[in-house]
Amino acid sequence: MTINSIGFVGTGAITEAMVRGLLAEPAYASEIHVSPRSAHIAATLAAEFASVRIAGDNQTVVDRSDMVFLAIRPQIAEEVVRALSFRTGQTIVSLVAATERQAVLDWIGADINLVQAIPLPFVAQRQGVTAIYPANATIAALFDTLGTAVQCQSRKEYDLLAAASAVMSTYFGVMESITGWLEKSGLERAKGQAYIAPLFASLAQKANNPCNEPFSALSREFATKGGLNEQVLSDFDRKGGLAALTAALDGVLARIEGRNS
Ligand SMILES: NC(=O)c1ccc[n+]([C@@H]2O[C@H](COP(=O)([O-])OP(=O)(O)OC[C@H]3O[C@@H](n4cnc5c(N)ncnc54)[C@H](OP(=O)(O)O)[C@@H]3O)[C@@H](O)[C@H]2O)c1
Repeated sequence: MTINSIGFVGTGAITEAMVRGLLAEPAYASEIHVSPRSAHIAATLAAEFASVRIAGDNQTVVDRSDMVFLAIRPQIAEEVVRALSFRTGQTIVSLVAATERQAVLDWIGADINLVQAIPLPFVAQRQGVTAIYPANATIAALFDTLGTAVQCQSRKEYDLLAAASAVMSTYFGVMESITGWLEKSGLERAKGQAYIAPLFASLAQKANNPCNEPFSALSREFATKGGLNEQVLSDFDRKGGLAALTAALDGVLARIEGRNS
C-alpha cells in the first residue's frame, strides 16, 4: 500500500530520515510536502527526490497532505500547531517528544485522528523500530515499511518505550568509554575503535535473534563461571553501574510523564 500525500511540519533530522526511508524503492508515498524551514535539508531532499515539494508555509503542508507529521521541537510545538487549521478526519502523527497527547489534541482543536510515534534515525535505511500510540493499522503499516512498528496499548507502554529509546547516546557513550580506556592504557585509538565497533555489532546481532532468547540467558551464556566476562559484570553491578542505569531510566520516565516539571 502507498499513501498518496504525506506532509511534514518541521524539516529537521528526523524528517530527513523518514523521507529517505519513505522514498527508498519501492516508494511508500506519491508526494511528500515539507515545510520550508531548514532550507538546506528541504532543498537537498527536493533535489534528490522528484516527489518532494517544498511548501511555502506550514499551512500549505497541512492543506496538501492526507497524513501530516508534526516534527518540530517540543519548545515551539504549541505555537506552531495552534497556528494551523486541520481538516476533520485528517490523520496527524505527532513525533514531538515528551508532550502529552491531550495537549497536542487541545492545540489542534479539530476532530482528527492523532497518533504519537517515536521514529529513530534508522528509519532512513528502513531499519528503525518505532513505537506508536494508540494502535493504528495505517500508521503501523507505514512504520513496518520503515523497519518495525510496535503498537502500544496504553500511554504507559508508550512512555516506557520512549524512556528506553533514550539510551542510544549511552550505548555510544559506553563504547567511547571503553575505547578511551584502551587508549589511556596504551592502545592506539583507531585500533580500539576498529575492535569495539564490530564487537558491539556482533552482540547486537546476537540479541536481535528470531528465537527471542532472553537477555539474561545471553548474559549468562557469555559469562563463563569464574571468567573475565563474569568478573566485569559483577564488578560493574557491585560498584553501582546497573543501579545508575535504572535510576537514569526512572529519571527520564518522570520527565516524559511530566512528574518533575
Ligand atoms: N531526531 C530524532 O531521532 C527524533 C526521534 C523521535 C522524535 N523526535 C522528535 O521530533 C521532533 C523533531 O526532532 P529533530 O531531531 O528532527 O529536530 P530538528 O533537527 O531540530 O528539526 C526541527 C525542525 O523544525 C524546524 N522549525 C523551527 N521552527 C519552525 C516553525 N515555526 N515551523 C516549521 N518548522 C520549524 C527547524 O527549522 P530551523 O532549523 O530553520 O530552525 C527544524 O527544521 C522533536 O520534537 C523530537 O523530539 C526526534
